[in-house]
Amino acid sequence: MLIKGKVLKILEENKGRNISGEEIAKTLNISRTSIWKAINSLRNEGYVINAVTNKGYSLATNTDFISKEGISLYLNKSCSDIEIYNYKTISSTNEIAKNLALSGAKHGTVVISEEQTAGKGRLGRSFYSPANTGIYMSIILRPNLTAMDSVLITTSSSVIICESIKKVTGIDCQIKWINDIYLNNKKVAGILTEASTNFESGTIDYLILGIGINFNQPKDDFPDELKSIASSLFNNNNNNINRNMLCAEIISNILDMIPRIKNYDFISEYKKRSIVLNQEIIYISSGISSKGKAININCDGSLVVEHDDGSIKILNSGEVSIRRLN
Ligand code: BTN
Repeated sequence: MLIKGKVLKILEENKGRNISGEEIAKTLNISRTSIWKAINSLRNEGYVINAVTNKGYSLATNTDFISKEGISLYLNKSCSDIEIYNYKTISSTNEIAKNLALSGAKHGTVVISEEQTAGKGRLGRSFYSPANTGIYMSIILRPNLTAMDSVLITTSSSVIICESIKKVTGIDCQIKWINDIYLNNKKVAGILTEASTNFESGTIDYLILGIGINFNQPKDDFPDELKSIASSLFNNNNNNINRNMLCAEIISNILDMIPRIKNYDFISEYKKRSIVLNQEIIYISSGISSKGKAININCDGSLVVEHDDGSIKILNSGEVSIRRLN
């Protein structure tokens, strides 16, 4: 780890508290000048680091930049050795993760960026990813699952994202089948999974789990076409909630869940948080639009829809888009 990263780790660990340059230098066994250079370089990146004579440095509590060091502080012990690649700006974390997976990156590797210039959404859409106000991350997974089962990752991840948001921020979100996270009837987060399958064995070689969360985006800052449908967990930057903590909570819970995904124990929570279950919906499949009532969500994440004539349609994640009627 570079000196700057080591200094940042200590500042993050002591966020809001003073720590003397001498103490940092002693802990890292480096000169005070090196500490001073690292502090200046972090300040140039935007970190607010206060310096008080005779007391030392302190990282301001409202400084909320995502970093490998900041996330690592809050990860569960079981995943403390994962690789995290963090960027200020990048095209799409899913694209970078895919390249890393192709060159052999391990299960659990994370790619995260403060901004995406070509963020991707489902169904070929783009995902609006402005700087410093969201969470844009991709986790490389190598689960021992068939391609058919990969939808379970999307379904369980939706639940984990909601539960992690609740734990870290106190906010209760809902799920719109299959993978959109909603707050007050507007989308605040989305998931894009992209898998590569081994055709001989039928199992997943790697799966990129891309997660995008609008964290702190004032409502007037959304582009006009998104204003009525998208929202953010917060819409000011005074919330003092740490995005690193939320990232770590999501990563830890997803990696802990993968080995027991076939227990399907996330389904009941998924149903509780669903905004389409027991609702009249319109779904569009292969360009054809149909109306029905969502009457159940199966263990495999498929949505059971009953039409007015009593016929039943099972929707799999595929390329289906749905909306509630009311
Ligand atoms: C959707 O709502 O349609 C899915 C949105 C997924 C966005 C995330 S942000 C991180 C990762 N990188 C991308 O380019 N997309 C996903």
